[in-house]
Amino acid sequence: MATITVFKGDGIGPEITDAVLEILDAAGAGLKYEIFRVGNQEYLDNGALIPDAAFVSFEKTRILLKSPITTPIGKGFRSLNVTLRNRYDLYANIRPAKSNAAVRTPFPNVDIVVFRENTEDLYVGKEEWINENTVYATKIITRRASTRIIRDAFEYARSHGRKLVTCVHKANILKMSDGLFLDIFNTIKQEYPDIAANDRIADNVCMQMVMNPAQFDVMVMPNLYGDMLSDLASGLIGGLGLLPSSNLGRDYAMFEAVHGSAPDIAGKGIANPTALLWSACMMLEYMHMDDCAARIRRAVDQVLTDTDVITPDIHGKGNTRTYTDAIIARLG
Ligand code: NAI
Repeated sequence: MATITVFKGDGIGPEITDAVLEILDAAGAGLKYEIFRVGNQEYLDNGALIPDAAFVSFEKTRILLKSPITTPIGKGFRSLNVTLRNRYDLYANIRPAKSNAAVRTPFPNVDIVVFRENTEDLYVGKEEWINENTVYATKIITRRASTRIIRDAFEYARSHGRKLVTCVHKANILKMSDGLFLDIFNTIKQEYPDIAANDRIADNVCMQMVMNPAQFDVMVMPNLYGDMLSDLASGLIGGLGLLPSSNLGRDYAMFEAVHGSAPDIAGKGIANPTALLWSACMMLEYMHMDDCAARIRRAVDQVLTDTDVITPDIHGKGNTRTYTDAIIARLG
């Protein structure tokens, strides 16, 4: 029986984690869980966002299902997510956004997988005051990090029967940094003659994703554009409650919903667990439990058409409990 580490975060984190673990058990995933509370409440009670035992668990299981946390107010906090990504070199942030016939949106044909470089770019957090009116922020793009994310995007396209990889950049302005990313893309694409490849400037992509999102397939980009464009993609498919993600490195893997801790609806029992559930499906696939993931995905697809049980954020009349129960009932 495989063991995974689970971080229950803040806000709606515990509610959606409970729902997802219940569904995993009902689907026969047969996983053992080492569950830890992390985040703001843990910090207030015990002085650390992540208890040491939670790090130890992740270093042992190497697989983490993480729910969102509330970023503590005040200066001096490095984002917990950035900390985890850097500490475990989780360099590939993969965010699939796919339209679902059941969820009302003007964009029924979206099927985009964003590959976001997760460790550098402006997210290295190097900022300095030059004088009292000026701050410099450092953007870092390296050959090593760009090569591995771009290669992973092409490998994913090949192994998942995808047709096109699009590189997103601002090499017209950032000629050296994004220029390096684009150069590496243009070199690597030659190793994949079976996959079409093109590149687009980031601002143009924003417009084209809204005008005609069906033209995009796999997209690869530096950290900042990946953060923004994947949120844009989630809007196309019906909102943040539906966007899962994986954060993969060579040795560790972390799976989490893209949305935050939604403090405005915490404790009301109406949080949508789909994004975390689909993240858990990506985790099962990573663990080669494809059949179990497929059963859950089929059940979710069926339940999403039932407006009596789905949650209000996707125009339902139900709540977390009715939605979870309906998925479990469809698992058979
Ligand atoms: P948010 O994603 O938590 O919420 C934005 C809006 O979407 C809210 O109206 C919320 O109710 C709704 N929403 C989000 N997820 C939902 C779900 N599963 N079901 C139903 N409705 C959902 O973003 P916000 O409000 O900007 O951030 C809240 C806190 O979360 C902040 O402290 C932020 O730093 C943190 N955060 C944490 C992340 C993480 O741990 N991965 C990611 C993003 C934000």
